[in-house]
Amino acid sequence: MKHASLSFASLFSGCGGFDLGFIREGFSSRAAYDCDSEAVDSFKANFSSPIYDVDLTEGVPRENELRDIDVLIAGPPCQGFSTAGKRQIDDKRNHLLTLTGHLASRISPKVLIVENVAGALSGAHARYWHELDATMRQAGYRTNTIRCQATDVGMAQLRRRILFFAWKTKRDIDFTIQALPPKDLRSVLDGVQHQANHHPKKLIPQSREWQIARRIKAGQKLSNVRGGENAVATWDIPEVFGAISDHERTILEVLRRLRRQNRLRDHGDADPVSLCRLESALGKPFVRLVDDLVAKGYLRRVGPGIDLVGTFNGKFRRLAWDKPSCTVDTRFGSPRYFLHPSQPRGFTVREAARIQGFDDGYTFHGSELGQYRQVGNAVPPPLGALAARLAKRLLGA
Ligand SMILES: C[S@@+](CC[C@H](N)C(=O)[O-])C[C@H]1O[C@@H](n2cnc3c(N)ncnc32)[C@H](O)[C@@H]1O
Repeated sequence: MKHASLSFASLFSGCGGFDLGFIREGFSSRAAYDCDSEAVDSFKANFSSPIYDVDLTEGVPRENELRDIDVLIAGPPCQGFSTAGKRQIDDKRNHLLTLTGHLASRISPKVLIVENVAGALSGAHARYWHELDATMRQAGYRTNTIRCQATDVGMAQLRRRILFFAWKTKRDIDFTIQALPPKDLRSVLDGVQHQANHHPKKLIPQSREWQIARRIKAGQKLSNVRGGENAVATWDIPEVFGAISDHERTILEVLRRLRRQNRLRDHGDADPVSLCRLESALGKPFVRLVDDLVAKGYLRRVGPGIDLVGTFNGKFRRLAWDKPSCTVDTRFGSPRYFLHPSQPRGFTVREAARIQGFDDGYTFHGSELGQYRQVGNAVPPPLGALAARLAKRLLGA
């Protein structure tokens, strides 16, 4: 069977990462839909097939033309499910997953594939995924959800995702992924100079951010909540955050350890520590220094307890050349979150796109923020291609 004859359409298409995976596997695009006009511009610049700038909660324009498509793919927003966000159960974006099921059962493709973050399957949030599953089963489809890690498809990025499959072709296939060896960052960033969307912006020498960045080595991040060799605490950078004595450092490090022990909550970060507990761990003479550390901006009083100022885990995360990248997200251009392995800057749009598995010929349009948003939100094309290969097997192609 000729693969070129296989057709697909996409919902929540963004700049077209998921679509590109299907095109690479020989499918031809019928239509795409998204409400972000900048992403739509990027899509148009890279594909000749139609994309509609629409709000899908108001329906799918010319839905009838999709009636006989082989595959419908959808990448609804993941922010409401992502553990990197607030994970509000009623985030209105979560309902777009349910909407996907209703739209798909009306369009009735032979195969539906939906991508999202692994967080969409955990805890109470899983109800949206289960609803999608139930809708497709009621419509006569068989379903399966698989978990994937981007490094397993040979990418230089750790990105855990889930893929939902619904099909009415009555085929049984083995969904097991044969993991490829992961790539490292060096291999995908090699030769990135002179490509489109590559505009490195170095931090201003001697600026506060530049001074922080130069203290963070590859594989390290600025973090006050965990110790260990991969964490650099604010008090390790006295030229920016203020000098402290050895005794004061001991207090901060003991507090860092205590706030993670005997936690009051069973999730999330850690809790403030009572002065009594600090005193029993350190002895009275040390505890007298707490006020000095409050005055220096390293500690703060929280009710009857005491806590660190800056309880973030992982800003200024410097990636390492010899490892895969962490998950590319919409903040990849900001050095406050992610640092280039060897330069005082964040990543360019092109670098982020390469880590996401886009070819250099694929261009991104719109504002700079919009471009990072498109790349960070995209389904990596190699993951899209994996989904396309599985779809072909479900179609018997
Ligand atoms: C995870 S991104 C999609 C990524 C895309 N599939 C790709 O691979 O590049 C989610 C997309 O949903 C779009 N979106 C959110 N709400 C929408 C709505 N109500 N109607 C249409 N698109 C919407 C966003 O603009 C965003 O591009």
